[in-house]
Amino acid sequence: MKNGKTIILGIETSCDETAAAVTADGREVLSNIIASQIDVHAVFGGVVPEIAARHHLTAIGGIVDEALRKAGVSTKEVDAIAVTKGPGLVGAVLIGLAAAKAMAYAMGLPLVGVHHIKGHICAALLEHPELEPPFLALVVSGGHTSLIEVSGLGGADGDMKVLGRTRDDAAGEAYDKVARVLGLGYPGGPLVDKLAKEGDPNAVRFKRTMLEDGSLDFSFSGLKTAVINYTHTLKQAGTPFRSADVAASFQQAVIDVLAEKTRQSLVLTGYTRLVLAGGVASNSALRQRLREMSEGMGVKLFIPSPVFCTDNAAMIACAGYYEYMAGRRDALDLDACATLPLV
Ligand code: KG4
Ligand code: ZN
Repeated sequence: MKNGKTIILGIETSCDETAAAVTADGREVLSNIIASQIDVHAVFGGVVPEIAARHHLTAIGGIVDEALRKAGVSTKEVDAIAVTKGPGLVGAVLIGLAAAKAMAYAMGLPLVGVHHIKGHICAALLEHPELEPPFLALVVSGGHTSLIEVSGLGGADGDMKVLGRTRDDAAGEAYDKVARVLGLGYPGGPLVDKLAKEGDPNAVRFKRTMLEDGSLDFSFSGLKTAVINYTHTLKQAGTPFRSADVAASFQQAVIDVLAEKTRQSLVLTGYTRLVLAGGVASNSALRQRLREMSEGMGVKLFIPSPVFCTDNAAMIACAGYYEYMAGRRDALDLDACATLPLV
């Protein structure tokens, strides 16, 4: 405790960011340190899991120290350690988990394992003190595209209900692949976002896969393949095309599907609060579209700042806080799980 507030140290290493953060009473971010490995993986065009794990191992000690120092918090003032337990690259998750367990054991502190997607959802709480469940969350990241009904944060059964999920490729994966095909580099999402601003979103009519069975699940692999085929065919025929138009048209197709399924979920649940979270939530066009849609529906939209959309540990500390306050604890045999289901 510090100044009467509950202090949580959060640790996140599920992909290519080594991150540690300190929060007070869940939502007040005292520090948020992120060491990105982008430069390391860019030469390979994507994250190499073994290299990510090795870099987490060398970085984690210093990042945790920096998070505590920046927050002005001593280890004695920490109430609990919250750590991502999955899903993610298992070798990467293991490093953060091992660091968290070692500290919890050495300092006699409670350990709370956090689901990475729940962390993304809780990122929206950090800058919006008024936001409380129930609400609908659209989580769009490199590994997930999910619509989730959130009715509580303490980790009780029934707190989260998944209305729709990724059937194949997540939206972020599609962005990264399209960026590669267009020769933009890695990570692709922000580069497609930027290029799309110069393109015509109606230049190419890519199919919107709505999975007509009425399901709220998502499928982006068909769209990804359509973009690959489109560019390959034109390249082979020697026909010039504008990459910006392809980027804008692809992005429009993704956003049309995300917005429509979100609209259907809002109608279905009757919720008047919507959270947009995950790495792809930093996409400028998606933010704009959901803002317009929400306004039209009388729904209040909550989107984290871009730094809290992509992977960070403040969101993990925040999610961990609510589970800690509800009395949930993990033992030191807590294991990492690459495919951990949300519920
Ligand atoms: O949530 P996140 O940091 O990691 C996962 O949990 O997967 O999301 C990373 C994903 C990547 O696919 C990246 O390309 C995408 O988020 N992304 C974006 C943007 N910024 C990051 N996609 C579209 N537009 C952006 N501005
Ligand atoms: Zn993530």
